[in-house]
Amino acid sequence: MSKTVLNYEPLIFPPKKTNEKIVLSDIQQEILSLKKERNAIILAHNYQIEAIQEVADFVGDSLGLSYKAEEADADVIVFCGVHFMAETAKIVNPQKTVLLPDLDAGCSLSDACPAEQLKAYKEKHPNIYVVAYINCSAGVKALSDVICTSGNAQKIVDQVPADKEILFVPDQNLGQWVSQQTHRKMELWPGSCYAHVLFTFNALKKIKDQFPKALIVAHPECVQTVREFANEVCSTEKMVHFCKESPADTFIIVTETAMIHRLQREIPNKTFIAGPTNTCACNECRFMKMNTIEKLRDCLKNLSPQIEIPETTRKQAYVPLKRMLEWSQ
Ligand code: 13P
Ligand code: SF4
Repeated sequence: MSKTVLNYEPLIFPPKKTNEKIVLSDIQQEILSLKKERNAIILAHNYQIEAIQEVADFVGDSLGLSYKAEEADADVIVFCGVHFMAETAKIVNPQKTVLLPDLDAGCSLSDACPAEQLKAYKEKHPNIYVVAYINCSAGVKALSDVICTSGNAQKIVDQVPADKEILFVPDQNLGQWVSQQTHRKMELWPGSCYAHVLFTFNALKKIKDQFPKALIVAHPECVQTVREFANEVCSTEKMVHFCKESPADTFIIVTETAMIHRLQREIPNKTFIAGPTNTCACNECRFMKMNTIEKLRDCLKNLSPQIEIPETTRKQAYVPLKRMLEWSQ
């Protein structure tokens, strides 16, 4: 294959000086004192902006965050992520006040599978076993048999009784990847993550030509041609472990670009390059970016917006979520 180049500058994060001290801004300090006042815990996803990650009690992937939400004993859980993540916290720990800095922070995957459509599908296929990726609404979880995340999907699917016919919702790319890993045939709901499908083989081939020694690490929400070109396909949390353990010193990170803040903090001596798309050197999830540091401060101040779920739906959604947390141990 001939060498090609990107027509824009790649976004490179070189090694950090390990003695660099984080200086918190006034608003970050204000958040820390409000957190104390409210007896709150701040949980943040790896895709949140750096300023939010810096004040969080825990930063992680959907799986780690679900466990943290379940065991949280503070009065208030501030969830810096998207709506389905905050909803998950409320499902597993309903006594707590759960706040989401921007209630409109949704997810294209979650939107791709409305509960009414899944209900209609199940009526036509009454024996189907529904494995739902955690990126779905409480209503969809309530209709599912077990939940999974990108960090445990293989483990979960491996435990589904062999005689069951599986429908995997809502991500066809993650579903296809899991099916390939587990050799388990599954029906795939036609949803996808609008951000991850922007990564293409062509863009990655160009950046790999520029940095031939760099290893490509991709999220399973990417399309098959991207996954096949990657050296490693895994959840955001596993990316941290992979880059830490690998003898390589440069990595092309094919997921939401804010992931690199977490990688740099944990592995300051290595270089990370943002996975490019056909048109841009980076790739941000517009929903994750709806949470700002000001909105985080304001939600702690006002104890709003809060996540509310009708109790019947919550109870039904808890069953497959709890099953996941147990199967995933
Ligand atoms: P992780 O669980 O791997 O962090 O992924 C969540 C997500 O929304 C990916 O787009
Ligand atoms: Fe949803 Fe994609 Fe954003 Fe993750 S990156 S929250 S899957 S839209």
